[in-house]
Amino acid sequence: MIIAVDGPAASGKGTIAKALAAHYGLPCLDTGLLYRAVGLAVLKRGGDPDREADALAACDFDDAILAEPALRSEAVGSLASRVSVHPSVRAALVSRQRDFATQPGGAILDGRDIATVIAPDADAKLFVTASVAVRAQRRYSDAQAQGARPDMDSLIADIQARDTRDMSRDHAPLRVAEGADLLDTSDLTIDAAVRQAIALVDAQLDRH
Ligand code: DC
Repeated sequence: MIIAVDGPAASGKGTIAKALAAHYGLPCLDTGLLYRAVGLAVLKRGGDPDREADALAACDFDDAILAEPALRSEAVGSLASRVSVHPSVRAALVSRQRDFATQPGGAILDGRDIATVIAPDADAKLFVTASVAVRAQRRYSDAQAQGARPDMDSLIADIQARDTRDMSRDHAPLRVAEGADLLDTSDLTIDAAVRQAIALVDAQLDRH
């Protein structure tokens, strides 16, 4: 059984994917971390994330980078979005994601192109979304919890820039896959969003 969870930055897709993984007893892969690792590796090597050759060279990153706290920062999220437009970078990361998806027993993956490119035959597909204002507020609260006081206007601008880049790129842009159910988490608590996600997945699994 493969469950695909796609959606824009800070939509809640990661939280929902982890909750689904616990509920169905499946392993979960946050595919954004792979693009973040490439972005951070480019930075460390002094490369240019917008240069395809530099970004591709960084795809052989050491897996130890996946445990670095900096990987979760908004700055690295933005670098990830920039390296992810290069087709050769996307191609370099495909087999790792497909291998995870097709492991015996099933898997959950979350990202931008899981239901469209990585696992188009997934048994259940969710597209998790939320308004820009709500997503910026979530980022603000996360940062505050870590003792930072970010500027709300720049958080909104960052999210909008990332949405635009992720949705308008030529290769594997973020879009709602055929057969995916939309889940708007703008007005939902985490518990309510998880309950709805499970109900939607159960209904899709029943139809299969
Ligand atoms: O989900 P995230 O914020 O960690 O993702 C960071 C960036 O990585 C995102 O802005 C675009 C890219 N990405 C992608 O292109 N495809 C994926 N499956 C996951 C992430």
